[in-house]
Amino acid sequence: MSERNTRESGDRVPAIAVSGLAKRYGDIEALRGLSFEIGPGEVVGFLGPNGAGKTTTMRILTGFIPASDGEVRIAGRDIFSDALEARRAVGYLPETPPLYPEMTPESYIDFVAKLKDVPRANRKRAVERSLERCGLSEVRNREIRQLSKGFRQRVGLAQAIVHEPKVLILDEPTVGLDPIQIREIRTLIGDLASTGGQTVLLSTHILPEVEAICQRVILLDRGRMALDQSMAELTGGGKSLEEVFARVMTRDEATEGEAA
Ligand SMILES: Nc1ncnc2c1ncn2[C@@H]1O[C@H](COP(=O)(O)OP(=O)(O)OP(=O)(O)O)[C@@H](O)[C@H]1O
Ligand SMILES: [Mg+2]
Repeated sequence: MSERNTRESGDRVPAIAVSGLAKRYGDIEALRGLSFEIGPGEVVGFLGPNGAGKTTTMRILTGFIPASDGEVRIAGRDIFSDALEARRAVGYLPETPPLYPEMTPESYIDFVAKLKDVPRANRKRAVERSLERCGLSEVRNREIRQLSKGFRQRVGLAQAIVHEPKVLILDEPTVGLDPIQIREIRTLIGDLASTGGQTVLLSTHILPEVEAICQRVILLDRGRMALDQSMAELTGGGKSLEEVFARVMTRDEATEGEAA
């Protein structure tokens, strides 16, 4: 069982390791030297105002776009030089999941399982399990285009987990869902982490959601880290997340232009 490509063995390898990450889109500096590590099994809320760089970071972590500078390792694998292995270790729910409206949840998840190289012998079981976990069993044979937004979001989640990745990257997984669906998706994410041992990085603008499921918060602001703290530390003083963030963001504005 030698894993030549990983630097350490077992659980000490961070699930996500980001160092000096930078991304420029022409003149726009979307990320400006971002570094953090997330350990196996952690559920981390990835927050920040619109345009802070959350989606950009997630796209780089999942190998969808290249970085301008910096290093990313997923479960010890370099996302640039060891892209295939690194991408295999990650499941990604993008802001807008690329679903095929003519397919059914079952055929789509099976298709994704093939793309993700789930071995043939396990594929049926993997598809079954993923449909079941995401509450899709009853609609498995309907066309995706006939499904409500919440169910389409579940299909997005099902494709992210079908290959049982160590790391889940979820970009606003509950956006546009009704309160009941939001609660169900939250429970599902919590279950994936507690029973599946998966590491979850999730972006959202809903702070109670973060309080409900995350153990740690990373707050981005204009492409930089504004805060990285455990939930216990953050809310230990009896303040709500909203108050803590309002304070961090106003402090940042006051020191705008100074070195970070
Ligand atoms: N393809 C692109 N081309 C040019 N600029 C981009 C592109 N994608 C993102 N940007 C810019 O990069 C910055 C970060 O955007 P990003 O989408 O990562 O933010 P975000 O934190 O996900 O915001 P939101 O909360 O609105 O989803 C913004 O200034 C945005 O305009
Ligand atoms: Mg975004």
